Amino acid sequence: MYKQMASYHAGIGFMRDAYYLITVAGGAILIALGFAEVTDLLTFVLYVSVVLPPIDRLINFTEQLQQGIASFERFTEVMDIKPEIEDNKDAKPLEVKDATIKFSDVSFSYESRSGEKVTSHLDLTIPGGSRVALVGESGAGKTTIVSLLARFYERDKGSITIDGVDIKDVTQESLHKAIGFVQQSVFLFDASIRENLRYGKSDATDEELWQALKVANLYEFVQSLPEGLDTEVGERGTRLSGGQKQRLSIARVFLKNPPILIFDEATSSLDTESEALIQDAFNNISKGKTSIVIAHRLSTIADCDKIFVIEKGSVKEAGTHQELLAKNGAYARLYNVKRDVL
Ligand SMILES: Nc1ncnc2c1ncn2[C@@H]1O[C@H](COP(=O)(O)OP(=O)(O)OP(=O)(O)O)[C@@H](O)[C@H]1O
Ligand SMILES: [Mg+2]
Repeated sequence: MYKQMASYHAGIGFMRDAYYLITVAGGAILIALGFAEVTDLLTFVLYVSVVLPPIDRLINFTEQLQQGIASFERFTEVMDIKPEIEDNKDAKPLEVKDATIKFSDVSFSYESRSGEKVTSHLDLTIPGGSRVALVGESGAGKTTIVSLLARFYERDKGSITIDGVDIKDVTQESLHKAIGFVQQSVFLFDASIRENLRYGKSDATDEELWQALKVANLYEFVQSLPEGLDTEVGERGTRLSGGQKQRLSIARVFLKNPPILIFDEATSSLDTESEALIQDAFNNISKGKTSIVIAHRLSTIADCDKIFVIEKGSVKEAGTHQELLAKNGAYARLYNVKRDVL
């Protein structure tokens, strides 16, 4: 494109200046031959400067039009892409009662992984209103399991239900509305804090936003910024720390106020203080809701109603912290390893 533009503009510029040159040279010859007066030449040169600006404008207009057409084509190309996961024809909106989640015999593999299963025969029941944790080694499939619940990917086999209704039979819009997801790597838009928060609730007032920031332990931080809610977070939130991004995401979920919460703890190391702030923020918003915590720091989940140890995409052990420690199995091993690291 730049190559084209270079020759285009150079060509136009050359012709534009040649126009003056020809006028002056031609006029000089005509004057020398006695066919014209100096005043004629001057008048002509003045005319030239009147004629050129509209031509310039026309050229710029064509350039903009071409760029616009090209961008619009790209836009329609993107908009025409059919999503891989579509609603069933008779999909109904999900009505959440107590938000009991059940995975039965679920198998799934990523397309790019040549059929190798990430989860197979996964069975998991999360009673409504309870708080459970998924733990396991890196790559065990924890993030994949919760992504299947939100239907970011389509399971290959088995069923996933919320209050007895298969998530395939409900509209994705209602499903996504029912689930608040604080992701492992938070996605923020290159916009202000206010706009990023409003992604959770588009008509939230500033008062509600500040309230959400309070719950998410971000109030003091945003207060201390000279531009407050109008502070730009940078592309993908680069101007915020990892912990701040996750807390912003928690504030967003608080505004959305869904019955099911998923918190995928960041793996990157956070200092203990920041970690405690995040944990506390999540505890604030998860009261009375069904919540799934994917924990890498096991210290934070001791009070969960149930802990599932995930290994190679299926449940290896399940129980409370005390039960699992008493069992002295996979969880106890993980617990001891992690405690040594900390
Ligand atoms: N989009 C993807 N495409 C292909 N393979 C993937 C994709 N996402 C994850 N995987 C693979 O699936 C397996 C499970 O990944 P997953 O992200 O669920 O692990 P995890 O338990 O969340 O790990 P961590 O504790 O590090 O977050 C891994 O082997 C990973 O390489
Ligand atoms: Mg993960």
